[in-house]
Amino acid sequence: MRNFYSDTQTRPTPAMLETVLTANVGDEQLKADPTTIELERRVAALLGKEDAMFLPSGTMCNEIALRVHVEAGDEVFCERSSHLIGFEGGGMAALSGAMPHPIDGHRGTFTGDQVRAAVRPTSRYMPRSRLVAVEQTANLAGGTVWPVDQLDDVTAAAREAGLATHLDGARLLNAVVASGVSADRYCRDMDSAWIDLTKGLGAAVGAVLAGSAEFIEQAWRYKQQWGGAMRQSGVIAAMGLYALDHHVDRLADDNARAARIGETLGSLGGVTTVQPVDTNIIIFDINAMTAGELVVAADDAGFSFGAFGSHRCRIVTHLDVDDTDVDELNAFLASTLD
Ligand SMILES: Cc1ncc(COP(=O)(O)O)c(C=O)c1O
Repeated sequence: MRNFYSDTQTRPTPAMLETVLTANVGDEQLKADPTTIELERRVAALLGKEDAMFLPSGTMCNEIALRVHVEAGDEVFCERSSHLIGFEGGGMAALSGAMPHPIDGHRGTFTGDQVRAAVRPTSRYMPRSRLVAVEQTANLAGGTVWPVDQLDDVTAAAREAGLATHLDGARLLNAVVASGVSADRYCRDMDSAWIDLTKGLGAAVGAVLAGSAEFIEQAWRYKQQWGGAMRQSGVIAAMGLYALDHHVDRLADDNARAARIGETLGSLGGVTTVQPVDTNIIIFDINAMTAGELVVAADDAGFSFGAFGSHRCRIVTHLDVDDTDVDELNAFLASTLD
């Protein structure tokens, strides 16, 4: 099976697993795991922040950051298609008592003026506007890269209104490789930001949340309270360090392969729309059949990808699919959708 379902499906490589055998470990809850500490230092420096914290998942990075930034009854501005709203089990309401204030953006991004228009006046009748969260890249919009000027506009609007800022960087490094803009530049005006090690980077477990020393100190309380504090976590942090050393530049291959699939889809009669392909995610709409029928036909032909609506599908490239897999997928799509 050629797996184009998600970049979350990558398996650790043998070389990555080798690093686990020699990882220097200690008790992470006591901040005594040297490999985890090294990973945290690396990511803090990469994102231009004072400190960082290793966590089991990206979802926990988002939810802990929210809990630090907001109080019950506060509202969080984020794009309607964001992971925070759609895919975290209602975590912002359940764990922080916060309300999402969805912004209808363009391809998963929005503008400073949309934030300015959405911010509420101070009133005991209204929720307190508190946080703006962005997703770099915007997953369900098709891996959109937020232009840095637009991010600056949004963070400026947040500052004017006294709001905190948070960047969900599940695929931040895909954006870095695609645009040439550094990770710390994208995160410059963010109070918190994180990267996932398990997506394009190909590690088996983990994500790293970064911010000021004070923010990370507060975040530790929730890491402990919610069961995210670990023990000899160096065995998984070692894979993250390996991924940072060996799997960042190669994200350009994933982005290029996604572009090739997007070009093929754009030339097919049974495809109505292909969202612009900025990075490694391709979202497309079909009229030749339903998305469910296409996914079943793909499965029969040995390809896996997802249906995201009655006629919408998503294909994702990553470490575990190569040029030959892409050629074969393109041939299948051409024979099925033209
Ligand atoms: C944009 C975005 N944010 C957050 C997450 C959550 O990451 P994790 O699966 O590591 O919890 C995902 C996962 O797919 C994602 O795509």
